[in-house]
This record gives sequence, C-alpha cells and structure tokens, in this order.
Amino acid sequence: MIRDGALAIRDGRIAWVGRRADLPGTPDRLAAAVVEGGGHWMTPGLIDCHTHILFGGERVREFELRLEGATYEEIARAGGGIVSTVAATRAASEDDLVAGAVRRLRPFLAEGVTTVEVKSGYGLDLATELKMLRAARRLGDALPVSVSTSFLGAHAVPPEFKGRQGDYVDLLCREMLPAVAQSGLADAVDGFCEGIAFTPDEMARIFETATRLGLSVKLHAEQLSDLGGAALAARFGALSADHLECLGEDGVAAMAAAGTVAVLLPGANYFLGESRRPPVAALRQAGVPMALASNCNPGSAPVLSLLLMLSMGCTLFRLTPEEALAGVTRAAAQALGLADRGRLASGLRADLALWDIESPAALAYWIGGNPCAGIIRGGVPVAP
Ligand code: NIG
Repeated sequence: MIRDGALAIRDGRIAWVGRRADLPGTPDRLAAAVVEGGGHWMTPGLIDCHTHILFGGERVREFELRLEGATYEEIARAGGGIVSTVAATRAASEDDLVAGAVRRLRPFLAEGVTTVEVKSGYGLDLATELKMLRAARRLGDALPVSVSTSFLGAHAVPPEFKGRQGDYVDLLCREMLPAVAQSGLADAVDGFCEGIAFTPDEMARIFETATRLGLSVKLHAEQLSDLGGAALAARFGALSADHLECLGEDGVAAMAAAGTVAVLLPGANYFLGESRRPPVAALRQAGVPMALASNCNPGSAPVLSLLLMLSMGCTLFRLTPEEALAGVTRAAAQALGLADRGRLASGLRADLALWDIESPAALAYWIGGNPCAGIIRGGVPVAP
C-alpha cells in the first residue's frame, strides 16, 4: 500500500509509481495532464479470468428444479445442463451472442474490470465454436475491455455423439483443435475433467494435441469429484486449474511445483449449494497463487459481479481480503498468462481503477453496491 501516492502514465503504460513526495518535481511540471485522485484508493483494473459469459438462452427452469431437489449432475445426465445451452447457442446468430454478452459484461466493467476471459464451449461443433470465439473477440471492439479467449470444445459431449464419446475426442484432436489453432481465435485451450464430462485420459490426449499446436492449457478440475485433473493440468504446465472443491494433497503439490494458478469460483459453489470448499489453507501453505473469478454462466453461476466474488471468496473460502484483491488482479493476470497487467508497476499497462472506500479490505466487505469511482484503461479514462 502506498499512501499519498502518484502514478505517471506514458503511451498507455505505467511510467512511474510511488509516493507523491518522491516525485522528481511537481506533477504539473512533469506531466502534460494531471488528474487528482480525490483521496480515492487506486488498484490495477480488475481481471475476471474465468467466464462463460457468451451463450444463447438461459436456464432459470433448472434453478427451480434444483430448488425442488434435483442436483446439477442429475440435470446434466438427463439431457439438461450444458447441452441445453448448446442447443440455444447453436441457434443464436453471432450478433445475438455478442449483444447478450455485452449486456452481461456492462456491470462487470462498471466495477472496474478491464480484462475478461471468455470461453467457448457451448457450440461443441467446429462452426459454432468458431462463431463463439469470433463473438468473444468482438466484445473487445464493442466495449472498453481486453478479452482473452479460451477454446472449450471439451466442455461436454455433444448430443449427436451420445454414447460415442471417444469419437468426439478424436474429432477434437484431429479436426477442431487444428482448425481453432489455425484461426488464431483462441488464446488457450480449456476442458472439463469430470464424471459428467471428460476423463483424465481423454483430457491428456486433448492437451497433448493443444501443446503440439503451441496453445497453452487450463482445466476445470476437481469441481464435483477428485479425478486427479489438477495434477494432470500441472503435468502439462497449465496456466490454471479451476474450481478445485475436491482437490487433494497430491493435486496441491503438483500445482505448486508447476506454477499452476488455482482459480477459485465461489459463485458456483454458492449457487450449487456445495458443501465442499477448495483447500485454501493447503494452497496458501504450498504457495499456489489463488485467483478469484465470476465463472459467469447460465448453469452453475449466473453471476454479474466480480466484487461479490471477493466477498464470497473471503466469507465462504476464508481468503483474506488482501488475497481476494490479489485474486482479481495479480493472480488473475498470471492465470491468463498476461505478464503485462495485474499490478501497479512501471512498464505494465495503465489499466487502473479508483475506489471510493476507506481501505482496500472494503472491496471484499460490502455485499452489493459499487464503490468504483473511475476507470483508466490503457492510460485512457473510460466512463465507469
Ligand atoms: O465452470 N463446470 C463446467 N462449466 C461451467 C458450468 C457451465 C454450465 O453449467 O453451463 C462451470 O461451472
């Protein structure tokens, strides 16, 4: 924490940051333009490193079914869940997908989010997956936000491959992954390693192909059961392993050794009424960086606030407020492999948020409300 600080920007990057008293002159003699912070706290622009914010339709009925006693897994096995969003996403136009995601993204941006990760994974055929990835890239033109894309073809088995899961994995490895790599539309490859999705062996094949194509990998792991997904991800040098409610000691050690970030998703934990919680104390002890993300999606986390994840990260997962803030800045940048942001340091992108709060811990303290008082992206002020 720097009290009475100053920060200089040149060409969209942070040129200097420190105590105002240490500036080598007065601000108005040093800079072409001076903006007074008005006593507000400044943090890096927030980074939401795990979202499925692009999709067709919604799944409110499944929420009601779960309240009546059905589980997320039962709904998925009965043909609902992810594959029901697949039908709606296949039917939607690219423009409609962009419009829906823009609507959902706006509240995040108003909370100081300047970088967002967006996954495909509701197409599960090449044409729709590419449509999603193109739509994701367009979000970065439509709104003042940087978009990092992940190809999530291994999210679920598409209905036309029911009972032929191996054939779909073949298709992913032989056709879809090479075409996605060729398109340049994906910054990483993601997968869902779970009883209702893909086995560790299948994910290993997919990761081998992705790695050969020069794409970095990440994984939804240990959300509902412990299949050893996090250790598998670590073996491939994954950027992150996400969810981790059922993560065991071996997984923690493997992630620590590989430098794989733990992306924690308290919104899904809350919404699905999970009693298991990620092993935060063990991750902390092992020095695994912990990121927090919204996981915005229609099935397990209809979340439209990243700040709320700070509150839930602390209250449900026992992160400290400082860890929660690092989780949506420094660790989130690491989870996306973006070394040029997530901290206030000279040379990094000038993505900044100003806050009308008494102390940084207040970002995790309030439940609802939005204390964001200003946003600068790439050195340029944007409307909050
Ligand atoms: O991260 N776990 C898999 N994928 C999403 C859920 C997607 C959905 O239910 O539509 C998640 O929670």
